[in-house]
Amino acid sequence: MSHESLDPTTTSAWSELGAHAARLAGTSIRDLVDADAARPAAFTLDAAGICFDVSRQRIDEGVRQSLLGLAGECRIAERRDEMLSGVHINVTEDRAVLHTALRLPSSAALVVDGVDVVADVHDVLDRMGTFAEAVRSGAWRGATGERISAVVNIGIGGSDLGPAMAHIALEAFSQRDLSFRFVSNVDPTDMSEALRALDPARTLFIVASKTFTTLETMTNAHAARSWLVAALGEDAVERHFVAVSTNAEQVAAFGIDTANMFGFWDWVGGRYSMDSSIGLSTMIAIGSDQYGQLLAGFHAMDVHFATAPAEANVPLLMGLLSVWNRNFLDIQTTAVLPYSQYLSRFPAYLQQLTMESNGKSVRLDGSAVDYQTGGIFWGEPGTNGQHSFYQLLHQGTSTVACDVVVVARAENPLTDQQDMLVANALAQASVLSLGRTAAEVAADGTPVALVPHKVMPGNRPVSLLMVERLDPFALGALVALYEHSVFVQGVVWGIDSFDQWGVELGKKVAMGILGDLTGTANATFDASTEASIARYRSLVRPLIG
Ligand code: F6P
Repeated sequence: MSHESLDPTTTSAWSELGAHAARLAGTSIRDLVDADAARPAAFTLDAAGICFDVSRQRIDEGVRQSLLGLAGECRIAERRDEMLSGVHINVTEDRAVLHTALRLPSSAALVVDGVDVVADVHDVLDRMGTFAEAVRSGAWRGATGERISAVVNIGIGGSDLGPAMAHIALEAFSQRDLSFRFVSNVDPTDMSEALRALDPARTLFIVASKTFTTLETMTNAHAARSWLVAALGEDAVERHFVAVSTNAEQVAAFGIDTANMFGFWDWVGGRYSMDSSIGLSTMIAIGSDQYGQLLAGFHAMDVHFATAPAEANVPLLMGLLSVWNRNFLDIQTTAVLPYSQYLSRFPAYLQQLTMESNGKSVRLDGSAVDYQTGGIFWGEPGTNGQHSFYQLLHQGTSTVACDVVVVARAENPLTDQQDMLVANALAQASVLSLGRTAAEVAADGTPVALVPHKVMPGNRPVSLLMVERLDPFALGALVALYEHSVFVQGVVWGIDSFDQWGVELGKKVAMGILGDLTGTANATFDASTEASIARYRSLVRPLIG
């Protein structure tokens, strides 16, 4: 396995960007905004219904041009076209990266490794649609003849975060007489609490796992199976369990009829899979037509990414700005601040998408990077975050980049609460980026001793993303925007954004320790681990006698 790896620091654009950073060192975002009334228009782009306003970023036209130069030197357009056509750009796993094929219309053509990918995708989508509509209408019955009223998705990582996030995001579009739960943690509490009020006769489990071998998911799936069998007997399993996986053999071994298995393919990465059959729970919630709208939103952003010229390309610019903030302004983290309660799990979803993709420190050829790669993503919905961590955002010693997401139209208008919400979003975007000087604070009549405490340094780079309404189309476009931004960053850094070797060792070591805890193996570990095992044993021994 080998692949050309460009060290981005050797490009001329990288040197230019270094010079821009030095040139702008004494220039604040406020200086930039105040100097140019045309800046908001010049630094706002639109794609697939998303307005992307980066006028509050610490950039000027010179920076933008050099970032676009960097895109050219790093051959992002060529790499994008390789991805879209099915080249095995996931080099360490020798796989194509084709989540964009999941949302191609049935009229599209894409043959990869000799297989008609579009036909395969639509075959699964059709089967999902038939099943989802049967559950929604009540045509699909449980073993005792009852309608399904609760759907439990059992999965973890990409097999949980996307469906769980989408369920909340699209609740306004969902069938309200169906309830949904998402069980991921191997902590027995997760499953126990999820099942507490459920009636087995009316519960459907979706076991969602690309590999169908993941410890947490398989443990939880077996626990759910035992719960169901205890109430309804072994024969009930086939009416209450379906699977979403690439692994038909393991699905059958679990006892799920493969007729009730919805497949996907190794070219869909877990964190890029919410619009594969992993989205089955989403389709049951919102129905197949609205699910089609979700896919259309993804596809609209894909088309934009593939065809918009570089200077108008929103995912390209978003990804390049992340590189600018990370590598030239030394910003370690990005706070994702959605001003929409429906997007309450969006930051958690993005954590896997961004950090599992770009948390890498060697290039494609295995050589070590000597520059920063993927930053830390985190966040909470506004306005709640304002009353918690925003103090540090405003006046702390770390500079945090912020993505403020605004949804214009409320699904639940309550007096003027939507205007209040949006006013807060715009106020925070302004204060974070522009701040408040000592002179302005003093001019308010603030006592002299308090002035330094009330100065707001500003200069926190903010991207403001605005959509008209958070409907399925908009959610698809929003997720695809971040997917492609992550891709752009990974290409610049020369890393494999589609593998995740860093999560393997912890799983293996846990299995070794588990053997020790359960007495089925007797390995030795490092002194700290041995001490922790001894302390754990001393705490649980009184309970188990
Ligand atoms: O642990 C990492 C990971 O492999 C993720 O990339 C993936 O989304 C998750 O585990 C779940 O994997 P699976 O769908 O195979 O159960």
